[in-house]
Amino acid sequence: MRNRVEVMHGVNLGQLGRRDAQHYGEMTYDELERRIGDFGRELGLELRFLQTDDEAEFIQHLHGLEGMSDGLVLNPGAWTHYSWAIHDALELCGLPAVEVHLSDVRAREEWRRMSVVSDVCLATVSGQGVDGYREALELLARELET
Ligand code: DQA
Repeated sequence: MRNRVEVMHGVNLGQLGRRDAQHYGEMTYDELERRIGDFGRELGLELRFLQTDDEAEFIQHLHGLEGMSDGLVLNPGAWTHYSWAIHDALELCGLPAVEVHLSDVRAREEWRRMSVVSDVCLATVSGQGVDGYREALELLARELET
């Protein structure tokens, strides 16, 4: 059974609860993990979490996923918009991935409309807050069943 999913959060997402509530709500990162964990259990997925502000750690974590994980959900934060290094590491890890953003990145500043990871992801879910993670996990669960 393929059900091991890595949930990876990048830079500044550990500061949820202190960030602009208009875009990110009031939930802390710990609460976000708990909610995602509940979604995962409901879908029969085994989740592992990482949040880091260190781009090298994020990339090295991707390097180590082969054989450890079946898929991933990632919200790289601002790295989304410029880190070709994360793009390449994601491509290299070869696992099915879904990109998630809490806020609607298409409706904000121009520079947030660009994602350098979306072409190596199955899908992008944006602007649905925490519920976007449920959608991402459902998409991934369907992909892993096939
Ligand atoms: C974000 C959107 C990014 O533009 C931003 O830099 C973040 C969070 C989101 O979840 O909406 O840190 O990825």
